[in-house]
Amino acid sequence: MKVDIIISADYIRKDLIENKVVVVIDMLRATSVITTALMNGCKKVIPTLTIEEALKLKASIGEKECILGGERKAVKIDGFDLSNSPLEYTKEIVEGKTIVITTTNGTRTLTSCLEAKKIFVACMLNASAVAEKLLSLNEDVVILNAGTNGQFSMDDFICSGSIIKDLIEKCDKLELTDLSKTALLSFEGNPNIIDFIKEARHYNVMMGLGLENDIGYCIKKDLTTIVPEYKDGEII
Ligand code: MLT
Repeated sequence: MKVDIIISADYIRKDLIENKVVVVIDMLRATSVITTALMNGCKKVIPTLTIEEALKLKASIGEKECILGGERKAVKIDGFDLSNSPLEYTKEIVEGKTIVITTTNGTRTLTSCLEAKKIFVACMLNASAVAEKLLSLNEDVVILNAGTNGQFSMDDFICSGSIIKDLIEKCDKLELTDLSKTALLSFEGNPNIIDFIKEARHYNVMMGLGLENDIGYCIKKDLTTIVPEYKDGEII
């Protein structure tokens, strides 16, 4: 089982992901939001690239059935129901609902890897469960980091390292690329991942917006065993 990493949405290439098992990570915060919404009982999550697509979808699904969530520049979009804070996606709010979400990097990444054989959604909240799922499939894996505005992002990278650590502990036939090994070393060298993440650009943007509670939540490891899968336009 070979494990490679793509460092941001700008580096997606069809030949790298075609027919591969792909794991999308945007731990701050899109994939943490999606995982949380599903953990709290939403029916499904539909990621869209644009705000316009999201608004159209809400109109077709119905006001009562659908919740619009997401961000631009890490801030709630005008006219949307929720921002991109996972803490807003509570059971009371999302249970039984369809969430339509658009974010700067996370949903762009998800909607850019449709050639993959399978697409899973990962973050720290479900890292071990994702590793278990990958072990059960036993196929080559590409961990696709959303990154930040097309650039490498330390937070997604260390989260990749966490998944690889779980894989390596249970599989002795793991083939790691240099990037995967570096992600593993980053995770192993930073048992308190906040020490690493606090150097990241997006961490500092979030801190500047007073979103430290979101960060505190998103770094929690293994809060859930659910592994969302993106298939036919929907994440379930
Ligand atoms: C994104 O998809 O760009 C992020 O989740 C940004 C954010 O933290 O809101």
